[in-house]
Amino acid sequence: MERMVKDLDILDHSFIPKHLPGRENELVELNKLLKYCNQVSRHINLQGKSGTGKTATVNKVCKDLLPDLKKKNVKIDYFYVNCKDKKTKFDSLKTICKQMCNGNKVPNTWSQLYDLFIEKIKNFDAIIVFLDEIDALAKRGEDELDILYTLSRLKAHGYTNCNISVVIATNKVDFVMNLDSGIKSSFRTTSLLYKPYTTDILQKILEDRAQMALHSGVLNDDVIPLCSAFAAQEHGDARKAIDLLRTSVEVALDSDSKKVTIKHVKDARVRIEEDKTSELISYLPMQHKIILLSVLNIAKKRIRKPSFNNNKATTGDIYAQYLSLSKQIRIEATTQRWVSGILSEMDGLGLLNVDVVSKGRYGRTKFISVPMQGN
Ligand SMILES: Nc1ncnc2c1ncn2[C@@H]1O[C@H](COP(=O)(O)OP(=O)(O)O)[C@@H](O)[C@H]1O
Ligand SMILES: [Mg+2]
Repeated sequence: MERMVKDLDILDHSFIPKHLPGRENELVELNKLLKYCNQVSRHINLQGKSGTGKTATVNKVCKDLLPDLKKKNVKIDYFYVNCKDKKTKFDSLKTICKQMCNGNKVPNTWSQLYDLFIEKIKNFDAIIVFLDEIDALAKRGEDELDILYTLSRLKAHGYTNCNISVVIATNKVDFVMNLDSGIKSSFRTTSLLYKPYTTDILQKILEDRAQMALHSGVLNDDVIPLCSAFAAQEHGDARKAIDLLRTSVEVALDSDSKKVTIKHVKDARVRIEEDKTSELISYLPMQHKIILLSVLNIAKKRIRKPSFNNNKATTGDIYAQYLSLSKQIRIEATTQRWVSGILSEMDGLGLLNVDVVSKGRYGRTKFISVPMQGN
């Protein structure tokens, strides 16, 4: 292991490197917008697909900017909220208040939290709040986005002298456009668009990371180009590129290889897919799991009998197997119609394939099969 790896944590996607290739313009723009945040609040909307560097750039700019401003005696702080974890405006404000109180306990009602927040920001000339992955709040309900109104209105309404700048990151192109007009009137944003990374940039990102994480000569020359090409296909996602490189190294380590080759990259893709599938399955409700097991049981039986030259089964076959399994584990079975619905749902999740074949005037038959994994 030591012979290959200097520090594998550097290939974790939580690691933020000093240099962010391909995002030079965005870093300059963010810096320009936030540099005078103690004099004027700026609200910024970052739009781009996942893995395009939204979180990394804001964190970096704030990390660099705050010490500079503090040196100039500006009382300022930066608060990060990942709305995907928090999901409501209450939890988001709570996260901010907690950071303001150094992790100590904070009140449990909105009005008390709000009062605490107003009290705490008296200590600041300016704060920057980053509501990352804000789509998660919107998903909960439009009301949750009131927090944008609250934060952007406090000063204008005379509740504080602190300049509050709010940065949001979203996957949606039309997020700001679709905001309630009341929110939009006070929450005026400058938008920055994060385009997907090209293969070249992904390659640069991976080269930088590999240099920090691995000893030289460990990667075969074609490994980074291949990882970059795969990630470029998946809408230029740097997170996926880094995960693929890391998993490739892990696969190589597991096989006691001294070098990472493209075979390891290909195996790593399968491993990542399998991990994703098992995670997905672990979250399924019980009935779904039984139905999936029925599909697998039938597929297995059919593979053992080569006279069935495919592993396809009808809904009727699956339902019979499902009834038998439900009986065995003493779970109340539901109707065939319902099972058929669940099969389509799991097709949507990519856990199995449902092919509908038209049989002319006899109607349509669904054939269910298991997707074959491999490279
Ligand atoms: N330009 C870049 N240079 C180096 N690493 C990057 C760059 N952009 C993204 N990353 C890395 O890729 C991963 C995902 O980036 P992130 O900022 O979380 O994307 P987003 O917030 O757009 O989903 C992180 O590990 C980040 O450090
Ligand atoms: Mg992010």
